[in-house]
Amino acid sequence: MQNPTIILSEAQIAFFQREGYLAIPAITTPEEVERLIGIYDHLFAIKAGREEGNQYDLAGTDEDDKEAAVPQIVHPSKYAQELANILYWVNARAIAAQLLGPQVEMQSDHAIMKPPGSGAPTPWHQDEAYWRPDLEHSALTIWMPLQEATLENGCMQFIPGSHTLEVLPHHSIGHDPRVHGLEVDTVEAAHAVACPLPAGGATIHHCRTLHYTGPNRTDKPRRAYILNFAAPTKKREVARDFYWQAMRQTARDERRRKAGIVSTSGGRLREESK
Ligand code: NI
Repeated sequence: MQNPTIILSEAQIAFFQREGYLAIPAITTPEEVERLIGIYDHLFAIKAGREEGNQYDLAGTDEDDKEAAVPQIVHPSKYAQELANILYWVNARAIAAQLLGPQVEMQSDHAIMKPPGSGAPTPWHQDEAYWRPDLEHSALTIWMPLQEATLENGCMQFIPGSHTLEVLPHHSIGHDPRVHGLEVDTVEAAHAVACPLPAGGATIHHCRTLHYTGPNRTDKPRRAYILNFAAPTKKREVARDFYWQAMRQTARDERRRKAGIVSTSGGRLREESK
């Protein structure tokens, strides 16, 4: 295992705690980013994980004969073991430990791609809205683009300070229960901050920070490789009602049932975090 090459400064830690997000210009080497692009594109090309519901359309209806609006792979490292324990993971874990404490553990990795010239927006949401309502979550997400991320191709945007809010009511994107992705019911986005990044840079956001990415208006894919980290969860005294989770009926869940991975459409696993 490699040693981390990044340590956040006190000022960066304070910024994250105050604003609920942080952007850093580099979380790994350009060489690693180059190598990841080939692995990443291959996994989408072979539809890795599709059968068991680990590759699906985050923003569309996910029909087999339809091009995905925003294709996503959950746990891409299950399908390409050379992703595991790369420098990006090592640095991300070190950052997560600085921000959430030494007991932090990586929960999942995700690849979210916005195809050239299309790619719907990923509407405003809080990641915790996807997770189990009966647990107390202390978690964050690290988002790394494999090419420059800009306003034109869908860089991350955040609402500063929104991590101090409770989990707000959400609904399926476009109020279509066939869509996996969630969207917050109401948002005041006038003070949103966009975070353009170079390839191999990263944003870090808390699990309640409202965030958004725009469509990809360029002629190249917008690739993001995302890691989730969490401190151990605790049972909440009073479970919340995340009714929007039970309202979804997605083709992805149907595939998961067929593959014997989930038996009900009720409380979702933390790992399905985007
Ligand atoms: Ni998210």
